Amino acid sequence: MPISTFLVAGLLALKVNALPGQDTPSILRRACPDYTTYASTQHGPYSGGPLNLPYQRPAQACRTFLSDSVEQVIEDVTSRLVDKDLAQLFRNAYPNTLDTTIRWHVNGSSSTVTRRNLDKRDTSDWSGLQTFIVTGDINAEWLRDSTNQVMNYQKLASQDKGLHDLILGAIRTQAEFVIRSPFCNAYQAPSVSGIQPENNTQVDTVHPAYEKSFVYECKYELDSLAHFLKMGREFHENTGSTEFLTDRWFKALQTVLSVIDAESKPTFDSNNQFVQNQYTFQRLTTLGTETLTLSGVGNPLNSGTGLIRSAFRPSDDATILGYFIPPNAMMSVELQGIAKVLQEAGGHDSLASELQDRGEKLAAAVREHGIVTNGKYGEVYAFEVDGYGSRTIMDDANVPSLLSLPYLGFLNQTDEVYQNTRKMITDKLGNPYYLEGPAFHGIGGPHIGLTNAWPMSLLIQAQTSDNETEIMECINLVRDSSLLGLIHESINVTNIKDYTRPWFSWANSVFGQTILKVAAERPHLIFGEGAEPYTVA
Ligand SMILES: *[C@@H]1O[C@H](CO)[C@@H](O)[C@H](O)[C@H]1NC(C)=O
Ligand SMILES: *[C@@H]1O[C@H](CO)[C@@H](O)[C@H](O)[C@H]1NC(C)=O
Ligand SMILES: *[C@@H]1O[C@H](CO)[C@@H](O)[C@H](O)[C@H]1NC(C)=O
Ligand SMILES: *[C@@H]1O[C@H](CO)[C@@H](O)[C@H](O)[C@H]1NC(C)=O
Ligand SMILES: *[C@@H]1O[C@H](CO)[C@@H](O)[C@H](O)[C@H]1NC(C)=O
Repeated sequence: MPISTFLVAGLLALKVNALPGQDTPSILRRACPDYTTYASTQHGPYSGGPLNLPYQRPAQACRTFLSDSVEQVIEDVTSRLVDKDLAQLFRNAYPNTLDTTIRWHVNGSSSTVTRRNLDKRDTSDWSGLQTFIVTGDINAEWLRDSTNQVMNYQKLASQDKGLHDLILGAIRTQAEFVIRSPFCNAYQAPSVSGIQPENNTQVDTVHPAYEKSFVYECKYELDSLAHFLKMGREFHENTGSTEFLTDRWFKALQTVLSVIDAESKPTFDSNNQFVQNQYTFQRLTTLGTETLTLSGVGNPLNSGTGLIRSAFRPSDDATILGYFIPPNAMMSVELQGIAKVLQEAGGHDSLASELQDRGEKLAAAVREHGIVTNGKYGEVYAFEVDGYGSRTIMDDANVPSLLSLPYLGFLNQTDEVYQNTRKMITDKLGNPYYLEGPAFHGIGGPHIGLTNAWPMSLLIQAQTSDNETEIMECINLVRDSSLLGLIHESINVTNIKDYTRPWFSWANSVFGQTILKVAAERPHLIFGEGAEPYTVA
């Protein structure tokens, strides 16, 4: 389906559900250009800086969600930024999720959802606040992306009721996705939205089976479930609210725990007999990274590690060895994070201690099996292991990655093993996916291939460094390779004009986070000598 068709469907749904402060006549909204096309060419007014970066926000009438507090942050930050091109990038990137990706939002007090289009097979509870957030150029919601897409607005949610309800709705929508199809990574708009499901045009054979009107793609990625927990944990930390702790959310949490238990099972049982994993995936494809070996099972995994298998990575590429370290680290953090939320909420003591215990044991397993000795760099974290002693030594730009371990809250960036790992994965001779060329460099991954590095890796590198030269080199390299005024997925290391994905909301969100982190911690780097720190809310 052409993107313009679902855009119109989405806009009609928005009209039905009357977004707060958005009474633009639907006739105008239907005239809005498709944002993939819009983002692929430059628009004024230009920055006036050396790169003269374009202004890429859609016209106000075409934005998918409006927030005065987000506009205030844009004003506060861009008026302080010395570099006009960085200011233009922030102006475009920070609001990108709200401007372009809130495809459907039901505000609680106007929740008379039209059930005309209800899919009878859809047993989900779509009552109350709901928010469906597309990744960008694909009309589907990824659990991982959407958590990261709203992360920048979490800090504003305590004072801005609109953002509070937007994020609360997003948690509730994710809970419904997790309850019904917990092994999947990307989902269709809820049937009650009236938005037609998207066809991903792949031919997949997947167990457990899923409904194509509900799920866009069903790659089991451990980090998807950790991201579901993370959105609630951050909401609680920023607002103090426990409103998301509904029966449905607890049902989703129990579903996550049952997936973890199923995916902690080794390939052979205690009698050394093969037992098929609960999740299998095969795709009709010529790409090795898009399907699983051994008839969809994946390579064998040993018993007794305490690690949880992930069939795919956050790049949506298949793991080589299923005990993939970064999402195990992330899950250990989020289990303990939810334990803390439940302790603070009160009344869930035994569940809280179970989660704390699971989280601590998982963190210990990550250290025991994830740390390996490398002849050149010493003790380092492996990317993936199998419990038999095999390991993959590499990193991929997508978060969770090894580079992001401090960003995820798993360890302190001064940690010696992390520092060894960091040296290795930012070295062309240490990480096969550290890609360098005359125009660009950084960590990439198999997803786009061996000529393209990803801006996201440079932004995470900046966010996990204490070296101010390195921080600004990373930020400036991203600035210099974002000539369309937005952050792309990947950039060809030989030619920055050759890039993938004009409209990739998650990467724009990570750029916003990076600037806000520097503004709060090292304001002199971007606001000039002697500038005061700037913090949101
Ligand atoms: C939800 O919609 C109602 C009615 O349009 C409005 O009064 C209310 O302020 C909205 N809530 C939020 C949080 O914007
Ligand atoms: C989805 O796309 C595939 C491949 O193009 C096609 O064979 C299939 O009929 C499509 N399904 C629907 C429901 O449109
Ligand atoms: C990391 O460790 C250093 C040195 O012990 C300490 O100063 C810093 O606050 C720690 N950072 C975090 C995020 O815990
Ligand atoms: C800081 O980063 C710069 C640029 O990457 C590098 O040249 C320099 O050696 C680093 N300094 C330290 C103390 O590591
Ligand atoms: C990157 O550019 C090189 C040189 O122009 C080209 O050969 C290669 O195919 C490009 N990579 C991609 C992924 O398009």
